[in-house]
Amino acid sequence: MDITIFQEKRILLGITGSIACYKSVDLASKLTQNGALVDVIMTEAASRFIAPLSLSSVTGREVYSDMWSLDDHIQHVNLGEGADIFVIAPSTAHTIAKIAHGLADNLLTITALAARCPILMAPAMDVGMYTNPATQANVATLKDRGLLFAGPAEGRMASGLVGLGRLLEPTELMGHIRRALSSGGPLKDKKIIVTAGPTQEALDPVRFLSNRSSGRQGYALAQAALDAGADVTLISGPVQLNSPVGARMIQVNTAVEMSDAVLKEVADADVLLMAAAVSDFRPAELGKQKIKKAQAFSGGLGLPLISNPDILEQVKTQKAKTGRPLVSLGFAAETENLMEYGREKLVRKALDFIAINDVGSADSGFSVDTNRIILIGSDGRLMNMPLQSKSAVAEDIIRVIVEALDLRIN
Ligand code: CTP
Repeated sequence: MDITIFQEKRILLGITGSIACYKSVDLASKLTQNGALVDVIMTEAASRFIAPLSLSSVTGREVYSDMWSLDDHIQHVNLGEGADIFVIAPSTAHTIAKIAHGLADNLLTITALAARCPILMAPAMDVGMYTNPATQANVATLKDRGLLFAGPAEGRMASGLVGLGRLLEPTELMGHIRRALSSGGPLKDKKIIVTAGPTQEALDPVRFLSNRSSGRQGYALAQAALDAGADVTLISGPVQLNSPVGARMIQVNTAVEMSDAVLKEVADADVLLMAAAVSDFRPAELGKQKIKKAQAFSGGLGLPLISNPDILEQVKTQKAKTGRPLVSLGFAAETENLMEYGREKLVRKALDFIAINDVGSADSGFSVDTNRIILIGSDGRLMNMPLQSKSAVAEDIIRVIVEALDLRIN
């Protein structure tokens, strides 16, 4: 994993007594693998569900409990002061209630009271307990005071009941933590529009024309922009990916739907990152009923197509009137003449940057986790990026965008 936002971050992980505690070990492990320094505080009840040794084994650091000595009498202050974020996962109804009322009867609640860093609570309890007006009032009080909440999710609980109360999965919790850590980043208050994935052009009620785009590079860009603190709107074609936590999602199917969404959203946007693989054409007619085999072959195999709007060219026309977006980046998916075709698109679409990727090679482009990009700027700059993960590509591109936006604004 290579989520740079976690590197060197001090994360205080509070664990309270719930059967969902076992997920905290995985969470602590994933955070540590991504470079975070994870200090754990467990309540006495939590240590009856999982052993402190499990946590110290994955974090390589001390696990704090209520058995503290006189030497550690200001431990709660030290822990809370030094942390970038205090994550309490799982948070039981009892702990939520105690923190809401300022009670401080164990190291975890004392630290919550003393902490100056953001606090993120991930509730886990039975549905009746969570929906109880007392818990709801406590959650509302804490939200009012600026505490952050992640979940709970709906689903089956250990009791066998189904409803709202499940602890979010560790990967979802990671998304909430990285969103909380990103506030104040270099793209704070900037509106960034990202498009991702393929479009699907219907032929009849059961068939469509599409392409092999997985959406991974676009989703990685959206995540990197979120990590830089941006307000991100992700306009996505149909893909098999989880929405990045914090992104405003607009789901579309066709190129025309994507075009409508992009033109509306860029009207007040700072940046457009156009990573979607938009279908250039669509069937001339949409069959109302499923096309039968005999019907399809009767007139030969010809399939009349008409062209779709070129979204970036439409944005160019709109920008001439509105001045928005301030910075735009397109992708050029090529299999040959990379530089020549890329430069031509940069000019024709009036972009600030074009990210050229060789979709012909096995380790770069569609449906793989890595990408090799050549980034060209309208100012003549050229960056040859190495083969790297799509997340690393996205982070490199966002760094360039931050610089370009600074120049445009200042
Ligand atoms: N794009 C767009 N609207 C389209 C097609 C593409 O806005 N109808 C955008 C893509 O999202 C990408 C850039 O234009 O950012 C280049 O896309 P690409 O498919 O490489 O180029 P095309 O313009 O389709 O040209 P060609 O088919 O000749 O390669």
